[in-house]
Amino acid sequence: MHSLPSNLTQLSTFPQTSKANDKGHLMIGNCDTIELTKQYGTPLYVIDLETVKNKILEYTTSLKRYYPDSLVLYAAKAFACTAIFKLANQFNLGIDVVSGGELFIALNTHFNKEKIYFHGNNKSEEEIKYAITNSIGRIVCDNFYELELLQTIAKENNKIVDILIRLTPGIECHTHEYIKTGHLDSKFGFDLEHLDNVLEYLTKSGKNLSLKGYHAHVGSQIFELEPYLDVIDILLGQALYTKQKYNIEIQELDVGGGIGISYLNSDDPISIDNWAKLTSEKIQKKCKDLNLKLPRLICEPGRSLIGTSGITLYKTGSTKQVPNGRRFISVDGGMADNPRPITYKAEYSAIVANKINKPEQEVVTIAGRYCETGDILIKDILLPKILPGDIIAISNTGAYNYSMSSNYNMVPRPACILVNNGQSEVIIERETYSDLIAKHKIPSILI
Ligand code: LLP
Repeated sequence: MHSLPSNLTQLSTFPQTSKANDKGHLMIGNCDTIELTKQYGTPLYVIDLETVKNKILEYTTSLKRYYPDSLVLYAAKAFACTAIFKLANQFNLGIDVVSGGELFIALNTHFNKEKIYFHGNNKSEEEIKYAITNSIGRIVCDNFYELELLQTIAKENNKIVDILIRLTPGIECHTHEYIKTGHLDSKFGFDLEHLDNVLEYLTKSGKNLSLKGYHAHVGSQIFELEPYLDVIDILLGQALYTKQKYNIEIQELDVGGGIGISYLNSDDPISIDNWAKLTSEKIQKKCKDLNLKLPRLICEPGRSLIGTSGITLYKTGSTKQVPNGRRFISVDGGMADNPRPITYKAEYSAIVANKINKPEQEVVTIAGRYCETGDILIKDILLPKILPGDIIAISNTGAYNYSMSSNYNMVPRPACILVNNGQSEVIIERETYSDLIAKHKIPSILI
C-alpha cells in the first residue's frame, strides 16, 4: 500500500509504487517518469504493473476469504488491451466483454473461454454468432430481441448456450447521470415485471438456452455501499420467485461492476475488502433466510482494477494569463486521450513530475490542445511554478481513458507503456500520421 513520506501526500492518488527520486522527479515502478518521456515521447500513458497486480489480488483474496465460490471478471471496457487481458488470464480472472472487438481480443489472447461473459444491450446477430460458435462461457441477455436471437442462433448451431439474465433493479445511486445504469428509466436489462415473460419463453421456446443466473449493475464510480447491498436483495428475491414458480434454481449471481476510486485526495470510497466482506455476508444471510442454495458470486470490476495503476504524462507548452482571471497552462494532450472531464465533468489530480519537491505556488488551469473551449483537463489546481517543457502527471487514468480515446483533430493516440522494477515496455504503440489515414480512400470520382 501507499507508504509515502508526509511531504508527498500529493502522491496519494498515484500508483502504489510512486515516489520522488533525488532529482525531484516522479518515479513509478522504479522508473524515472522524466526519462520515460524522453524515451517514449508525450503524451504518454504509463501503467504500473505492481498496482494492477495488487488490485487484482485485493479482489481475489478478499473474495476467497469471505465467499470461496466466486469469480472476478475484468470489465474490459475500462482498458481493452492485449497485455492487460493476458495479465487477467494469468491471474485466473474471467472477463466481461461488450462487443465483438473486445471478444476478438480475448479469443486472440487465448483467454480461458469458459470465463468470458458477453454483455451489451444491442449485440448484433454477427456478434452473437461469433460468441456462440466460439463457445464462450456466458452470454448476458439484455432484452427480448436478444433472447429470441440467442435461441435461433443456438439452435442453428446445435448448441446449448449458458445465459445470465440482466435485470433492471430500479436502484438510484449517486454518480454522474451518464454512468448510472440500475435505475428504472435505463436502456439496460429486463424490467422485473417482465421476468415472467422471460421465464415462460425459456420454459416453452428457449430450449437451447440454459439459465444460469441473474445479473444487475447499478452504476459506476459509486462510493456508497447501500446500492450494492440493495441489488443483492432484489436479485435474490427474483431467484426465490424463479425457484418457487418455475422450479429453476439460480447458480450464479452477478452483481456488476466494482467500487469507485479516489480521483481526488478528498474522495473516500469503501475499500475492496470491506465491499467483499459486506457483499458476501449479505448474500449468505439472504440465501439462508430464503432457503436458497448459495450461488457463485460474480463481480465485474474495471475502474477499481486498472484505474489507479495508470497515469498520463503531458508536456506543457503555451500559457495564457487572462487579465484578472485564470492562468491557463496548455499541454500536448487533452479531451481525445482523456474525454472524462468534458463528458462527465470528471475531476483529476495532477503534479508537476519534474518538480515534485518544489513548493506549490500558483493556481492554474490545465488546458488540452484540442480546438474546443471545454477541453480542460483540470480547473484551478495549485501547483509549483510551471514553465514550458515541464511534465504534468495526471493520476488515475488507467481506466476509461485509452479505451475512450479518439483521433479528434487528427491527433495520433499516445503510446501506452507498462512499468515494473525499473523496466518499461510498450504495450500499445504510439499512432503515426500514416495510421490516421490508413483506412481513408479516394473515390474514383475524384481521381
Ligand atoms: N459491468 C457492467 C455491466 C458495466 O456496465 C460496467 C461499466 C462495469 C461492469 C464496470 O464498472 P466499473 O467497475 O468500471 O465501475 N465511461 C465511464 C464509465 C462507464 C461504465 C460503464 N459500465 C467513465 O469513464 O466513468
